[in-house]
Amino acid sequence: MTPGAPLSVDVHLSADDLDAALEHDVRTGLAGPGKSIPPVWFYDEEGSRLFEEITALPEYYPTRAERRLLEAHAHRIAELATADTLVELGAGACDKTRLLLDALSSLGNLRAYRPFDVSDEFLRAAAEGLRQDYADLPVHAVVGDFHRHLDRIPREGRRLIAFLGGTVGNLDPGQRHRFLFDLNCTMAAEECLLLGTDLLKDPDRIVAAYDDAEGVTAEFNRNVLRVLNHRLGADFEPDQFDHVAHWNEAERWIEMRLRSRRDQTVAIPRLGMEVRFEAGEDLLTEISAKFTPEQVATELAGADFVVAGQWGAEQGEFLLTLARPCC
Ligand code: SAH
Ligand code: TRP
Repeated sequence: MTPGAPLSVDVHLSADDLDAALEHDVRTGLAGPGKSIPPVWFYDEEGSRLFEEITALPEYYPTRAERRLLEAHAHRIAELATADTLVELGAGACDKTRLLLDALSSLGNLRAYRPFDVSDEFLRAAAEGLRQDYADLPVHAVVGDFHRHLDRIPREGRRLIAFLGGTVGNLDPGQRHRFLFDLNCTMAAEECLLLGTDLLKDPDRIVAAYDDAEGVTAEFNRNVLRVLNHRLGADFEPDQFDHVAHWNEAERWIEMRLRSRRDQTVAIPRLGMEVRFEAGEDLLTEISAKFTPEQVATELAGADFVVAGQWGAEQGEFLLTLARPCC
């Protein structure tokens, strides 16, 4: 046990609830042609661990680029936000977070940190790790799905809500609009959203970031099949699927796919389903949209936010945008 302020954890996802949500996603995503599964299922403990490995890969530039921006600008962001509570959506390892915590704390305002993530055990471990270095900071972790539990994000304090890592780009445009709009409705006028988005760039660099030489991203992608095996008793053979990273020029997003190496049938006995894959058939597991700074501002305006600051637009690698509800 770490002495000092307490760590509390609220869990809004029971095993039954997760099973019901997964059943819904599998029935809608795998039953017909054009197969897909939402990316939230990547993140069991092993998936979260593999993602952390991805962030250290030479090809995966977004994490380093976002960290550099935070190193340079967290203080200014904290000054503009004047928040006493940092809420972080999709917090993961809560690592870059430290730069924001330090900046808020140097202004003397910081009272609490509230990370929110779907990955239960990983979030607990990350929050516990953070407490080693911020012994006096109350940390309140919340386990939930940001598509379904935005109303459970703690409202206490004057909040800066951070959504980093380009995770907003994993939502399709319709989901993004809804997410931003719903989030806006939960925010007080003086509160701020800090959004990290990856920027459009040479597609070869983007593809390399999602198809690294060591094959860590491929393992991360295949992990979703292991999650299906584990939670639903399915019999996917992960090594019978190839990892594919495809740049979709028209949509300006990278698509993560798992391509069936042969004709195969996968049984999902718990759902009474058999899923047939033809050789070369794809299962879409994730999109990761790339933005221009203007597009981020436009999407935020469409969800009733006004931009209070943008950093990184000149370097063209990654972008941080600070926004407030406009009414
Ligand atoms: N913010 C971290 C992690 C980004 S990876 C960083 O910048 O490095 C995306 C994170 O979002 C993971 O921790 C994953 O568990 C979480 N996540 C993905 N989908 C989610 C959902 N629907 N609800 C809550 N968290 C989710
Ligand atoms: N939010 C991350 C991103 O869009 C998630 C991610 C990185 C990812 N690499 C991946 C998801 C590979 C699936 C496969 O960059």
